[in-house]
Amino acid sequence: MTLGAKAPACIMENVTVRYSQNSPPAIEGVSFKAELGEMVLLAGPNGGGKSTIIKTLLGLVKPEKGRVLVLGRDPSKDNDVRRLIGYVPQISELNIYAPLTLWDLVSLGRRPRFGALFRLPEEDVRIVNESIELVGLSDKAHKKLSELSGGMLARALIARALVQEPQIYLLDEPFESIDAQSESIIMDLLVREKKRGKLVIIAEHHMNGLDAVDRVIYVNRRILAVGKPEEVLPRLNPSMAGGSSG
Ligand SMILES: Nc1ncnc2c1ncn2[C@@H]1O[C@H](COP(=O)(O)OP(=O)(O)OP(=O)(O)O)[C@@H](O)[C@H]1O
Ligand SMILES: [Mg+2]
Repeated sequence: MTLGAKAPACIMENVTVRYSQNSPPAIEGVSFKAELGEMVLLAGPNGGGKSTIIKTLLGLVKPEKGRVLVLGRDPSKDNDVRRLIGYVPQISELNIYAPLTLWDLVSLGRRPRFGALFRLPEEDVRIVNESIELVGLSDKAHKKLSELSGGMLARALIARALVQEPQIYLLDEPFESIDAQSESIIMDLLVREKKRGKLVIIAEHHMNGLDAVDRVIYVNRRILAVGKPEEVLPRLNPSMAGGSSG
């Protein structure tokens, strides 16, 4: 890794993304930087472009304009950078009818190191088991995905990201319609990862624990505000700020 110690982990400069030529841009002129050791909340309305920003950082979507750097590399050209990102997609993007157990799903986080057909080394098996225990699902490890609740699936996706030992977590609505216990387990783990110097970016409409959030980036096609939760949310998203409009 040729990354200088002080370089931001993620940089977007004047990024515009359009899904098709005739449609309006999904995001336009988006610029921000995020550092390792930060927790950033990407807030904004439905269709505001939160998932598009996450997919652009992952290199899944190529901007028509602007520059994207993740850990010093262009994610649309450098597949290796994906391994350093723990991506947690929206649960609706998960195929819960895939013939996988929770254990299989979590173990996929170790697979980039080994092909899917290899038996995982003992050390990796231990890491997978530990991570499943951390999210409180040891007794569900051999359940099929279709047998798990939304909160359990959300925790399983977090466990899969954890075993990857990434530098950056990109989470797309990890708290969407889950139970309070799952939410607090997930938040505690994300805070732990932040304290370990990881960058945590959470796209979310609504979440309860804002204490650990360092910065909110509020996006509705363009970035409308950046600041501390108490500065940005009462003005732009009062329900997330606890219902008070100040
Ligand atoms: N695959 C796609 N093809 C075409 N248009 C898309 C695609 N994905 C998103 N869009 C459009 O891009 C815009 C931004 O969508 P995006 O999903 O990034 O917003 P979001 O903030 O994540 O919304 P939500 O809160 O509903 O998840 C919307 O107008 C959406 O319709
Ligand atoms: Mg989205």
